[in-house]
Parts: sequence; C-alpha cells; structure tokens
Amino acid sequence: MGAWQLAALLHLVVAIFFVGYLLFWAILALALGRDRGPAEVERHLAVAAAARWPHVLVPWKLRLPLPVVGWLLLALAVGSGVLAGAASGSSHLGFAFWLKLAAVGLLFAVHLPLARRPRALWAWVALPVALLVVVLSVPLVR
Ligand code: HEM
Repeated sequence: MGAWQLAALLHLVVAIFFVGYLLFWAILALALGRDRGPAEVERHLAVAAAARWPHVLVPWKLRLPLPVVGWLLLALAVGSGVLAGAASGSSHLGFAFWLKLAAVGLLFAVHLPLARRPRALWAWVALPVALLVVVLSVPLVR
C-alpha cells in the first residue's frame, strides 16, 4: 500500500468516526427531546459534553471531553485529506474540490457552537452538513 492509499484509507476511517460522533449528538438530542423541554435537553447535552471519552478501556487521564474528541477528529480529517490530495500526485483543484472545501468550512462553523454550548439545533444541523461533505467527496475519489 502506497502513501496515497494509506492517507485515503486514514481519511475514510476518520470520516466514518466523525460522522459517528455527530450521529451520537443527533440521536442524543432526539431521545432527550422526546419527553423534555429545550432547557432540560440543553442541560443534559452539557452533561454529555463535559463527560470524558472514551469511557471504557482508556485510562481516565487520557480521556477527553466529547467536543475535544470532535475537534481532534475534524483536524485529523483535514490533515489526512490534505495528505491524500498531495500524495495522489494531482495538482488540479477543480470545482468539486472548492465546493467540498466550502462545505468543510460550514462544518467548522456549525461544530463551533455545538462544541461550545451544545443545543439540539446544532446537533441536528451538524449531521446533514457532515453527510453533505461526504457526498461532495465522491468526485474527489481516485
Ligand atoms: C480540508 C479538508 C479536507 C480535504 C482537503 C479533503 C480532501 C479529500 C481528498 C483529496 C479526497 C480524495 C482521496 C482519494 O484520492 O481517494 C477525499 C475523499 C473523501 N473525503 Fe475528504 N477532505 C477534507 C475533509 C473531509 C471531511 C471533514 C470529511 C468527513 C466529514 C471528508 C470525507 C471524505 C470521504 C468520505 C472521502 C472518500 C473516501 C476517501 O477517498 O478517503 N473529507 N477528501
């Protein structure tokens, strides 16, 4: 396996984890919203954000608050994406690339309020934006 395949594989795995992370927020917001008002939902989401992850296997000192896990995954996605692009040997950045970059920017903008003060709205918006990034990635695959 060459550098490009390795970077693309890492990028794919990180993307799966990041979408899973946002899926967790969306499912939690949905479940809490079923029998609680917005203020109580927000209070519970704040508890989830303050909890340290992963909550099994990893020693306590190495566990991170959930929003930090999200930022790390996003940073890894950007890093591995840049690596995959550079290692592929193609220097042409077409319209599909810029469109995806805009969607990644939007993802950052939506993850910021979710990570700072999680609310059901941001949990709901972030997941489709991440899925949009994944859909816009299809033309980039070599
Ligand atoms: C600035 C940030 C990013 C850059 C520069 C970037 C770049 C790329 C490139 C060049 C490819 C094609 C890889 C190949 O040669 O096959 C790709 C594919 C892909 N990207 Fe990104 N990406 C970024 C962020 C993200 C994010 C945040 C996600 C997830 C939410 C994501 C999800 C994917 C997926 C699912 C694929 C297809 C699978 C793969 O080829 O690894 N990307 N990206």
